[in-house]
Amino acid sequence: MSETSERKSKIAVVGLGYVGLPLSLQFARSGVTVLGLDIDPVKVDALNQGRSYIRHIGSETITGMIRAGRFSATTDFARVAEVEAVIICVPTPLSKNRDPDISFILETGRRIARHLQKDTLVVLESTTYPGTTDEDLREVLEIGSGLVAGRDFYLAFSPEREDPGNPESKVANIPQGCGGYTPACLERACALYSRAIRTLVPVSSCRAAEATKLLENIFRSVNIALVNELKLVYSAMGIDIWEVINAAKTKPFGFMAFYPGPGLVGTASRLIRSISLGRRANTARTCVSSNWRARSTRPCRCMW
Ligand SMILES: NC(=O)c1ccc[n+]([C@@H]2O[C@H](COP(=O)([O-])OP(=O)(O)OC[C@H]3O[C@@H](n4cnc5c(N)ncnc54)[C@H](O)[C@@H]3O)[C@@H](O)[C@H]2O)c1
Repeated sequence: MSETSERKSKIAVVGLGYVGLPLSLQFARSGVTVLGLDIDPVKVDALNQGRSYIRHIGSETITGMIRAGRFSATTDFARVAEVEAVIICVPTPLSKNRDPDISFILETGRRIARHLQKDTLVVLESTTYPGTTDEDLREVLEIGSGLVAGRDFYLAFSPEREDPGNPESKVANIPQGCGGYTPACLERACALYSRAIRTLVPVSSCRAAEATKLLENIFRSVNIALVNELKLVYSAMGIDIWEVINAAKTKPFGFMAFYPGPGLVGTASRLIRSISLGRRANTARTCVSSNWRARSTRPCRCMW
């Protein structure tokens, strides 16, 4: 096989956590050779020995993909030169001032850029605010590689919709949005993802895709907060919130049931962090963060 055709059947997934590992395995299952990249050597060693560190992913799945020659893991970013596409799934936490911290994305961009080859596709999956892909990530990739996005390499944003607590949820079956820096970038990203994901939802830009993901997270956050507040109010009035929700959800339009719970914890707490829209949308951030404050003032109250 020529060097070019080898690159055409191989991708890299950067960040082998709750998002990156299942995605890697889904691409591998679909016949693509996947190189998993992570800065954590303990995770990389575990994976290369066929050991899973994520509860809902069986070690046998990883072993099977390794044996089939479809999956391996490494900490060596120089190997980005071997692949046709790089998908970034690194964390996007909040800083101590509750501002979105995209430093993991930028650091990953710098590491990739040194080895980026012409015509490679770079896709960001990490949840973030609009403008991260086409402004911040693009800048570090272009400076580090000397290549130009949209001309020398392809750039896109495709937000993850992982549902880790749901055993019925499979990466391949969840429709996934996608926005490109240029129409050609979008086309290239959709061509890649359609090898592993059944339904793609193309939108007009990276920013539209980033904003779509935020809308989904904000919608969930606001509704969880609302139902938790109503639980308290209705309890004080002697009304059973569960009875009310069960009755309300028979409405066939304009209502979606959310249930009382401990609020956004674990994976969900990452979602709430990700709804901070950042410096490009301060008005929206103010509106959303008041919702966050409402819940973070009572983190220990059990809502069941
Ligand atoms: N977990 C979910 O359910 C979920 C759902 C939708 C979106 N997201 C978003 O996806 C992104 C990733 O989330 P996650 O839950 O997979 O995080 P995670 O913490 O489980 O995994 C992130 C991985 O990235 C690695 N990493 C960190 N910096 C790196 C770097 N510079 N280079 C290479 N690897 C690096 C870490 O070692 C870790 O293995 C976040 O933006 C998150 O908001 C998560």
